[in-house]
Amino acid sequence: MTNQLTSNTVGIVKIEEQIFEKFSGQKIFILVDENTYLHCYLPIQKLLPTHQVIQISAGEIYKNLETCQYIWQQLTVYQADRKSVLINLGGGVIGDMGGFCAATYKRGIDFVQIPSTLLAQVDASVGGKVGIDFQHFKNHIGVFALPKAVYIDTQFLKTLPNRELRSGFAEVLKHCLIADKGMWEKIYSQNLQNITINSLDWNEVVQHSITIKQNITNQDPHEKGLRKILNFGHTIGHAIESFYLQTDKPFLHGEAIAIGMIAESYLSYKNNLISKLDFEQIKKLLQQLYGQQSIENPYIAEIVEFALQDKKNEQNTILTCLLNKIGNCIYNQAITKIEIAEALRASN
Ligand SMILES: NC(=O)c1ccc[n+]([C@@H]2O[C@H](COP(=O)([O-])OP(=O)(O)OC[C@H]3O[C@@H](n4cnc5c(N)ncnc54)[C@H](O)[C@@H]3O)[C@@H](O)[C@H]2O)c1
Ligand SMILES: [Zn+2]
Repeated sequence: MTNQLTSNTVGIVKIEEQIFEKFSGQKIFILVDENTYLHCYLPIQKLLPTHQVIQISAGEIYKNLETCQYIWQQLTVYQADRKSVLINLGGGVIGDMGGFCAATYKRGIDFVQIPSTLLAQVDASVGGKVGIDFQHFKNHIGVFALPKAVYIDTQFLKTLPNRELRSGFAEVLKHCLIADKGMWEKIYSQNLQNITINSLDWNEVVQHSITIKQNITNQDPHEKGLRKILNFGHTIGHAIESFYLQTDKPFLHGEAIAIGMIAESYLSYKNNLISKLDFEQIKKLLQQLYGQQSIENPYIAEIVEFALQDKKNEQNTILTCLLNKIGNCIYNQAITKIEIAEALRASN
């Protein structure tokens, strides 16, 4: 499927020469890491007009101010002017950091997102949040800034390590659970045991997810209310992710969010918002794809503490999102430390 893209729109394309035509007359810079240089940039290099590559090291640990300084320095050395455009070719790290560097360089130059991981295609490249980590705080420094365009080519997923693909798929399932029961049931009925490049029609899946995310972020771009539902699974999921980062068995983001979604679905059930059957269905598919975790008892208290740190909270209560049916989500729901602990046990 090929969509006609206008400025600030997001859609599935096949990367071809014409899509870069609208940047003729602008100096073009391309931000990559070593993996996207090899797997994404080299295959499309010939399609690009004259450009300058800026390469950084892959990984979340480089999503910091020091790398931004290098990017700004390269833009300066190669005399990027206010009319230049920065193309961010990579996963969420490249998109978030490249977007932030572009939005701040000379008070803002154009940027284009070409997301190359599933997570970046269905989540990070949509909604206009860009930024970097700062002193162990994730996405602590950043701005809202819309790219000129987001070009999504699912061909890039072919070289993505399978674990990364599966991790990104958790955000796809999240979008179904919060906004589309029909798609949830369609995926559920396929009885998938694993996620691989051959498991699904990725154009359909990615388009479905970005439509949902765009629809929500267009209604509430600055996360005053509704946009919070995109955090379903993330209150407990982030706490799990942060806790296990200190161990020798860290989870990928989506793997932790999958457990968080089981736990928060359990709380939805316990609060009489969804049926036991719905909870069991959610747990079944998520455990089928992400494995059955057993979070050991001594860890549970520590994970609860992470959940409390993570959000604005009053005393022992934190606000989260819960499902009130499959395909619908409500936000600002108060949950207690005791409930989080119980939900973690129920997600095992
Ligand atoms: N802005 C937002 O709204 C938003 C939303 C969700 C997540 N994020 C951010 O996204 C980041 C995570 O993104 P991610 O999961 O894409 O991580 P990532 O950018 O680190 O990419 C994961 C790995 O895959 C490699 N890679 C990328 N594309 C590839 C390809 N096509 N073939 C082979 N290897 C490839 C990368 O080099 C990297 O090693 C986090 O920093 C998170 O905060 C932002
Ligand atoms: Zn997420």
